Amino acid sequence: MQNLAWTLSLISMAIVAAVFLWVVAGASRPAEDSGVIARSAFRWRDRLFWLAIAAGGALSFATLWEWPIAGHAAVVTRPDVVIRAVGHQWRWEIDRTEVEAGQLVEFEVTATDVNHGLAIYKDKTHMIAQTQAMPGYVNRLQVRFTEPGDYEVLCLEFCGVAHHGMRAVIRVRAGS
Ligand code: CUA
Repeated sequence: MQNLAWTLSLISMAIVAAVFLWVVAGASRPAEDSGVIARSAFRWRDRLFWLAIAAGGALSFATLWEWPIAGHAAVVTRPDVVIRAVGHQWRWEIDRTEVEAGQLVEFEVTATDVNHGLAIYKDKTHMIAQTQAMPGYVNRLQVRFTEPGDYEVLCLEFCGVAHHGMRAVIRVRAGS
C-alpha cells in the first residue's frame, strides 16, 4: 500500500514537473502568437481545477474513514488497564508494558519537554492508534488489543535529532 502510494506520488510529481517545464518553455513566446492556445488552455485550466477539487474531495472521503484517530466519543468506557506514557527527548517512559488481549487499555499520554506523537503499530506498516504527547496536557487514548503479540510504540512527531530512537514495545499476552 505504501509502495503504491509512493509510486503514485512520484508519477503525480513527474506530471506536475512536466507541465511546469512545458509552461516555462512556452513562456518566452509573445502573447499574440498563443491567443487561441491560451483561450483553450484557460478553459482546460478551469475544468482541471474543478476536477482536482472533486478528485481531492472523493479521495479524502474514501480514505479518511480508516484513519486510526480515536474520536472523543471513544473515551467513555471505564478501562481495564491504565498505562501512563510520558515522552522525553528521546525515549518513552511507560509504566506498564504487558497487557492481556481483549483488555480495554487506556493510555494517559503526556510529555516533559516538547511535543511527541505516540503511535502504536501492529506491524511495521499498520498503525492501530495514535495521539499527541504534549507537555502540560494528558491525552487519553483507549485501545483494545484484540490479538496477542508485540506492538511497537514509535514517536510520530519530529522532536529532534534522535526522534527515530523513541521506541518501546507493548507486549500483549493471550487472554486468560
Ligand atoms: Cu519524540 Cu519524535
